[in-house]
Amino acid sequence: MCGIVAYLGKKPAQPILIEGLKRLEYRGYDSAGLGLINGSEIKIIKSSGRISVLEEILGEPDPKEVVGIGHTRWATHGQPNTINAHPHLDYTGKIALAHNGIIENYSTLKTWLISKGCTFKSETDTEVIANLIGYLYSNTDGKDCPKDDQNRFEWAVQHALNELVGTYGLAIICADFPEMLIGAKKGSPLILGLGKNEYVIASDAAAIVEHTTQVIYLSDNEMVTITPQGFHTKTIDNVEIHKELKQIEFSLNAIELDGFKHYMLKEIYEQPKALGMCLGGRLDLRDNRVVLGGIGKYWREFTRSKRIIINACGTAWHAGLIGEFLIEQLARINAETQYASEFRYRNPIIEDDTVVIAISQSGETADTLAAVEQARERGAITLGIVNVVGSTIARTTDAGVYLRVGPEIGVASTKAFTAQVAVLAMLGIELGRRRHLSAEQVRCYIQELSRIPSKIEDVLTLSDHIKKIAEATCDRENWLFLGRGFNYPVALEGALKLKEISYIHAEGLPAAEMKHGPIALITKGMPAVFIATKCSQYDKIIGNIEEVRARGGRTIVVANKGDDNIRPYADFLIEVPEVLEEFQPMVTVVPLQILAYHAAVLRGHDVDKPRNLAKSVTVE
Ligand code: M6R
Repeated sequence: MCGIVAYLGKKPAQPILIEGLKRLEYRGYDSAGLGLINGSEIKIIKSSGRISVLEEILGEPDPKEVVGIGHTRWATHGQPNTINAHPHLDYTGKIALAHNGIIENYSTLKTWLISKGCTFKSETDTEVIANLIGYLYSNTDGKDCPKDDQNRFEWAVQHALNELVGTYGLAIICADFPEMLIGAKKGSPLILGLGKNEYVIASDAAAIVEHTTQVIYLSDNEMVTITPQGFHTKTIDNVEIHKELKQIEFSLNAIELDGFKHYMLKEIYEQPKALGMCLGGRLDLRDNRVVLGGIGKYWREFTRSKRIIINACGTAWHAGLIGEFLIEQLARINAETQYASEFRYRNPIIEDDTVVIAISQSGETADTLAAVEQARERGAITLGIVNVVGSTIARTTDAGVYLRVGPEIGVASTKAFTAQVAVLAMLGIELGRRRHLSAEQVRCYIQELSRIPSKIEDVLTLSDHIKKIAEATCDRENWLFLGRGFNYPVALEGALKLKEISYIHAEGLPAAEMKHGPIALITKGMPAVFIATKCSQYDKIIGNIEEVRARGGRTIVVANKGDDNIRPYADFLIEVPEVLEEFQPMVTVVPLQILAYHAAVLRGHDVDKPRNLAKSVTVE
């Protein structure tokens, strides 16, 4: 949440920062601002609203302003207004910073700083950091700090960071050092891009890739100081560290709209290709096995584990639920899926043979990360199923599998979901192969999985038909999504998609649960989406459809192509290709993504930036 970008180089910083902020806008979009060094002064320009609003109040770029910081905000402390927008200046006006994260002890620090004469303008926790650095920098009397000013600034930053409880990704500038930029990280992502005579710091590689593909991922409690002469990395305790250079693995093209109206639509349509990349080279039909190099030496423990706990949030949690069913079904290992936000505060029982899987598109979700840390502390082997390469969860887990679907920018997760399920299917197959599945069963599963991308391709052709269904139904404010077995998590996911972008109230349920309460909600014309593909519970779900129809509900049924039996039960029918029951979610979720998309557009919402949401939830 919140996006930071900072630049130090030879070009005017303003357009580079604005472009970077636009690439990060999915991380937060309630206010934005820039801080630029002009001579020995810091110029701050900020406003509430989107980056386009900020752009309107910016003047022409000044070629002398070659160092600066930018921020796009998702409010935590204080309303999304101009005063609370970042960057924040300290009370001396010398230090400015942009922050992503939450400072938990800000109130104590604020009281202390006020007692020392510091003044505050905003309601944010961030201003405390600026004032603390400013106070330490300007009040070194009697303190054991370096004599020269430059090191004194670094020293003040380090000492301030050591006082903070909470999380931060920070970009900091100081008017006394117009050619210096400091970045620091704890709990929120921060990447340093190394260009030719220029440096870009950002919360996400998307803001860097235009300038360079060479990056350094800062780890927690690390900072970087950059000047035109070069950069050095240290811990916040002032220990020099050497950081490995990494390569950004996607191109600029991957983060462009590429002719699509929205990123969400682009990412829905990318699914066949994305799944192809996810499965590519991993399904070994010749040797009849699944190859997941990232699990490496942990296959042994994984295969022998007695219990697998899957941790995730939101859409990734829905994928996890499908993973639970897949692992149980294919590998016959006890599996359970937990909300990471709950797991982290429980007193979980982790035994020697427990493996904990964390699923996260961003690899930065605070609750999922905390669950991984909790599991590691208790001795579990942890495995990450993550999309963003080099992200914190990817680096914190013992082993892992990358989704390899390229950047997902739309706040509503789509291609990451299908890939998460694909990875869980691969894990299930390979664990099953190592435990008990026959060669014939493995071959059948692998072949079926390899066919999923083309089946999704078929579903994408239904977009116009689904749009018509959305037109006929999207004025209704309450919806139900119902499925059974492997399609029950798909019902949850369909409901979440509709809620988050169209603001329609939707409830997802295992279809049989409906009659234990929610059936009371059904009124005449209420849309009820059933996922009723051919599966072991097909007859049962037909019964559930009848229950809804008997009460006047309007049914939208996702069924298999050619299933004429179901026609009389559907007010609207969406026909998808048939696949093995275990892998159906990757196909049945797609029409629900498309339905949610059209409903949101028809209702006039900004699909890629739904209200109150941000792409990666780095606060708990
Ligand atoms: O980055 P993560 O996969 O860890 O994110 C988890 C959820 O915040 C995310 O899936 C969220 O529910 C999406 N907006 C749903 O579309």
